[in-house]
Amino acid sequence: MATGRKAILALAVLAACSFSVSRAVTSPYLRPKPRTTLSELESLLDDAHGQTPQQVHVSTVGSDMMRVTWITEDDAPPMVEYGTTSGQYPFSETGTTTRYSYLALYRSGNIHDAVIGPLKPSTTYYYRCSSDQSREFSFRTPPSSLPFEFVIVGDLGQTGWTKTTLQHIAAADYDMLLLPGDLSYADFFQPRWDSYGRLVEPLASARPWMVTQGNHEIEKVPLLEQRAFKAYNARWRMPYDAGASPSGSNLYYSFDVAGGAAHVILLGSYTDYVAGTAQYEWLQADLAGIDRRKTAFVVALVHVPWYNSNKAHQGEGDDMRDAMEALLYGARVDAVFAGHVHAYERFTRVYEDREDPCGPVYVTIGDGGNREGLAAKYVDPQPKTSVFREASFGHGRLQVVNATNALWTWHRNDDDEPVIADHVWISSLGSNPACNE
Ligand SMILES: *[C@@H]1O[C@H](CO)[C@@H](O)[C@H](O)[C@H]1NC(C)=O
Ligand SMILES: [Fe+2]
Repeated sequence: MATGRKAILALAVLAACSFSVSRAVTSPYLRPKPRTTLSELESLLDDAHGQTPQQVHVSTVGSDMMRVTWITEDDAPPMVEYGTTSGQYPFSETGTTTRYSYLALYRSGNIHDAVIGPLKPSTTYYYRCSSDQSREFSFRTPPSSLPFEFVIVGDLGQTGWTKTTLQHIAAADYDMLLLPGDLSYADFFQPRWDSYGRLVEPLASARPWMVTQGNHEIEKVPLLEQRAFKAYNARWRMPYDAGASPSGSNLYYSFDVAGGAAHVILLGSYTDYVAGTAQYEWLQADLAGIDRRKTAFVVALVHVPWYNSNKAHQGEGDDMRDAMEALLYGARVDAVFAGHVHAYERFTRVYEDREDPCGPVYVTIGDGGNREGLAAKYVDPQPKTSVFREASFGHGRLQVVNATNALWTWHRNDDDEPVIADHVWISSLGSNPACNE
């Protein structure tokens, strides 16, 4: 928290020193070329043997539980032992194990999953998986009240730039990571899911990682692999069956943080979304269940951006926007974060393609660092609603400071140094009388 406060203070000083971001900026900054995929550089596979837990990651379930997911090559008990002192595990929980095969060539390790708790908020828990003595992990549970800090980053992949992004994120004192799709860029080659799991483990085992899926997670092959999201669903199970409005699908879900002060909705770009579909009906009910007197901030994540002035993927999100924008607007959703376009862009508050003081702030944050490189070509002139756009890798942070204000900062990986290249204060639409008549 102390570092978070300092950052806010620094920004306040920055703002006071007449630093102002004028409208419609296309930043001229251009990054170097994409970096090589890590698994081509170094073997990330060599520590995989026997019952050693690997690819450990955690995700929140309800207000005080945590799901621990890990993989072992050989059979091992799906048991997590945990406690608040390193080396002492007074509690334990046994979960379940699954495997999947892919294209007859690949058979996954044992994917274990156990939900532990109830846990105390803002507390560090030490844990081990499958009773393995060699690897102790720890995570910090999120706070049960504000302030609350999210890291948000999409299209991560596993390149040298991904590594830089992860290093910058690791230096932040955040509570939870949100990922709007495109995780491993395995692209049908399943061992890349494993190397990705190992790459993100130091962060994903220490803070909850809440993700939704992108096009790189679909991995359907005509006739041979007809089930979409096979690896994604097996490896990144999210709490779709917990909380106040269970969705019944791992591809879209929602949850509360900070004792209900913020509500997070993760949508599926590649799952039916028009009126009458399961996702639409669920979203409508989920939004209807929010009490804005208690829930200061509502944010949504979706892979394909609904507003985008980059030439890459231009117009791809239009159909989903046409179908669902009115729902989010009606519920006064504060911000919508997307990935897919490998660049950063921030829009003003928008509804139906026009600036609207009661619409969400739209942000594209698909700049985690994947091997496809950056999307550097923009539509000109820059739309009036687009405030800032730049094709660089980086990550974002959303600090919900209190019930009225949240600070969004974008941290560019400026030649390996994190630089705050864009920031904006977002005030809660729930506490804006003009938007709640
Ligand atoms: C919320 O935080 C903002 C930004 O730090 C501050 O200006 C405002 O006074 C705070 N509001 C309350 C009610 O504490
Ligand atoms: Fe994508």
